Amino acid sequence: MQPEFRDDGPIFDILGVGFGPSNLSLAAAIDEHNSTVPSTPLRAVFVERKRSFGWHEGMLLDQATMQVSFLKDLAAMRNPRSRFTFLTYLHERGRLVDFVNHKTLFPLRIEFHDYLEWVAGQFTDLVHYGDEVVDVRPVEADGKIAWLDVVSRDVDDPTVEVVRRTRNLVIASGLVPFLPPGVERTDRIWHSSEFLDRAAELNAAPATCTVIGAGQSAAEIAGYLHEKFPQAHVHAVFSRYGYSPADDSPFANRVFDPAAVDEFFAAPAHVQQKFFQYHANTNYSVVDLELIQDLYARVYRESVRGEPRLHMHHMTEVETAASETGRVRLRLKRLTSGERVDLDTDLVIYATGYRPMDPLGVLGSVAGLCKHDASGRLRVQRDHQVVTEGSVECGIYVQGGTEHTHGLSSSLLSTTAVRAGEIVRSILDREPRGTTPRCSNTL
Ligand code: FDA
Repeated sequence: MQPEFRDDGPIFDILGVGFGPSNLSLAAAIDEHNSTVPSTPLRAVFVERKRSFGWHEGMLLDQATMQVSFLKDLAAMRNPRSRFTFLTYLHERGRLVDFVNHKTLFPLRIEFHDYLEWVAGQFTDLVHYGDEVVDVRPVEADGKIAWLDVVSRDVDDPTVEVVRRTRNLVIASGLVPFLPPGVERTDRIWHSSEFLDRAAELNAAPATCTVIGAGQSAAEIAGYLHEKFPQAHVHAVFSRYGYSPADDSPFANRVFDPAAVDEFFAAPAHVQQKFFQYHANTNYSVVDLELIQDLYARVYRESVRGEPRLHMHHMTEVETAASETGRVRLRLKRLTSGERVDLDTDLVIYATGYRPMDPLGVLGSVAGLCKHDASGRLRVQRDHQVVTEGSVECGIYVQGGTEHTHGLSSSLLSTTAVRAGEIVRSILDREPRGTTPRCSNTL
């Protein structure tokens, strides 16, 4: 039997699906609103399938740094006086002076994770961890869809389902690891997203490791394995000629400004295409220049010593990956000559990126009420609200998965703080006060 909403349960103003940086920033924006405008408080709840807070934990490599300025944290670009800024975090941790002396805009990824966890720790009463949203059902009142019933399932006990009712839904379900078609994960074939978890399970140092891909994660993992296992041969396989640097120069970086979202949103489709043609190299299949130089220096040092251990297979594709006893045999194709060679390896790490999660999967029964463009993609307004049938009075918002409408920063942190503020503003502006019951309880 399907679980039902209990009539004595609260009706939320906002229910957030996922509690990564996007909805964490939303929680901060709601908190800021509630404390500055207590006359129109918003009641929010978040549902996160992980058992506790975590941000790309499989890639929290010791030396990896952020690819975005710490000033683009969860709050500062929206409200520099917020108590949820990275600077406030540093101050509370007693590291503000040390960080200033460090003279960097780009903190370690493990430090940024600690910052995110610090913010998440201030909202524990709002989040249901270990709970996965599996369906969203429309609730009618007077011929209109006034609320949404959000069904979630306990990740440890799938027989336990809970229904929560909300006026607005904000989906921030993030990215899904991408593996090339036909590739199956095994105990020796991994995706970069699970790298550290799987590496911790190794009971012997590998003699040979192979990393596939030419992006930041691929380069980081190749460097990490090379350092971590000083006897191992590390093979980097990619179809480009060489790793290419990420363009984070000042003018190009403007493509991640809040103003660029306005320009992208208003532009005709063929101009939107140009944003990607010209500036994909700010984010996709690119690597920090320092890391490229570091890897090159290692290869060069080894060639001087005559002991090559870090091997670059450029313009090379993997045709097949066959699990042999305890090893993997890769069939590589050299793109320039067409030659095929076999490479036997103990481990293969596919650093082949991610795809945005399809919000329709989360929306379940409500998906049919959402409108699409000619290419089948969700139609999303500038305020991040999905365009729905006229009968839908409640709001469905998306954070991420909107590159086609909001541009390159959609799945990144650059505009997270501003976007969360825009969503709160939109919800407050839309709310038809007095026509539907508002919650009496607030955060
Ligand atoms: P994110 O994926 O972080 O969180 C989504 C959450 O939703 C997850 O916790 C997931 O468990 C949960 N969820 C999904 N479906 C659910 C369901 N049905 N029910 C309940 N919960 C559900 N960007 C940047 O600007 N600068 C950077 O330096 C980096 N660095 C970086 C490193 C690595 C290794 C990766 C993979 C990515 C980055 N990024 C980045 C990009 C990255 O997408 C971005 O930093 C944020 O993670 C986006 O935050 P979100 O909250 O939108 O998604």
